[in-house]
Amino acid sequence: MYFRTMLFVYLASFRLCGQVGTNDYYPPTPVPDRIMLNLTDTPSTSTAVNWRTSLPVAKSYVQITEADPGPDLEGSARVIAGTSESFMTDLNGARFHSATLDDLRPGTQYAYRVGDSLHWSEWNHFTTAEAGEAPLSFLYFGDAQNDIKSLWSRAIRGAYAKMPEADFMLHAGDLINRSDRDHEWGEWFYAGGWIYGMMPSIATPGNHEYGRTILGDRELSPHWRPTFHLPENGPADYPETVYYVDYQGTRVISLDSPAFLRDSSEANVQMDWLRGLLADNPNTWTIVTMHHPVYSSRLGRDNLELREGLQPIFEEFGVDLVLQGHDHTYGRGTNLPIGSGKQPTIDGPIYVVSVSGPKMYDLSLEPWMQRGASNTQLYQLIEIDGDVLHFTAYTVTGQKYDAFELRKQGAGQPNVFIDQAPADVPERLALPPRFEREYTDEERAVYRNRFEEYEARKN
Ligand SMILES: [Fe+2]
Repeated sequence: MYFRTMLFVYLASFRLCGQVGTNDYYPPTPVPDRIMLNLTDTPSTSTAVNWRTSLPVAKSYVQITEADPGPDLEGSARVIAGTSESFMTDLNGARFHSATLDDLRPGTQYAYRVGDSLHWSEWNHFTTAEAGEAPLSFLYFGDAQNDIKSLWSRAIRGAYAKMPEADFMLHAGDLINRSDRDHEWGEWFYAGGWIYGMMPSIATPGNHEYGRTILGDRELSPHWRPTFHLPENGPADYPETVYYVDYQGTRVISLDSPAFLRDSSEANVQMDWLRGLLADNPNTWTIVTMHHPVYSSRLGRDNLELREGLQPIFEEFGVDLVLQGHDHTYGRGTNLPIGSGKQPTIDGPIYVVSVSGPKMYDLSLEPWMQRGASNTQLYQLIEIDGDVLHFTAYTVTGQKYDAFELRKQGAGQPNVFIDQAPADVPERLALPPRFEREYTDEERAVYRNRFEEYEARKN
């Protein structure tokens, strides 16, 4: 006991010392900020919202009404009481509030604001999902992680400007670099700002959303659950990290890949749950997101446990698309050679790895990849209409970089895959500058060989 107490004191002082000199540029105030809409598991009739204030703000209210061009929104609004919790971050004390906006009508635009009755946010609009199958679209972001304010902001703002009508956005992990740093979460909210309050998000945790307790145990970022209000319909020990949302005929599933890779028992729990979930799936389309990729797009990386554990399940139950991050490169492909012909069919999901932030690695150029990119910040738009899924990757400068279409052929049949990568946009495969500088001659030769093999396969 004495030892544990002394260790606590030692580690706590070490942690505080590490923070000396860090300014709190994003302090909480009585006025709500960090307003975050999240999809619930009943997105046609409810939406979740979280926000932050300074510590003395004890009350949590949401006013909500059907959106109207007339400005008297408050007159028709109903009030929903939220809950709140105090949270001591590494920089400040704050109060994080949360509410579920329920009893909503499907396919309806609402206006809402959050506050304590003295200090209110602005009125934001959002639209609930349709009750049945309907066309949908969403934005997908790979790792933001570093220089979030400086350089990731152009990704999320560019994506919103490209597709402000998207139904939701999906963050595939490593939103920040150090899981407990309030400053980094502050930058993440600075970058996305009011977009988060209008377009619901879902997020899956990356390795950087995990830190260690002062006793050395792995723990999910203390910011995760106060910041988000994600579904808790997965295995009991994975609230808000392993879950699913059925949205207008598409099932989107989040797996906790850091936990999966940490321990075989954590992998087994997720695989058992996933099998059950996929065995009973009335949706037309099934999309999985997790941070670590089944097929790596970075040189020297491989997550064999993920591939051995999950790929057979994905193939058995017809998962269509797997959206991942972690490798700080772009890679798109399948586990099978596409073959020749204009409309080849595929037997497994399309796997995508992408990166939206500025940290860049070297490409693996492995045989699974059919389109890659290095040293390129991207965001992706997925559009689904009936039996057709359309995927587009854009660079943060707004240029279409990759695209493909999947077409359903009927129950139990493989999808038809149509490669629509723009022929006039060359692949960006050069090494990022840091690797260009630091590679040894031998590494350079290995990379050149891979590059030549990749080019030869494609031609
Ligand atoms: Fe990562």
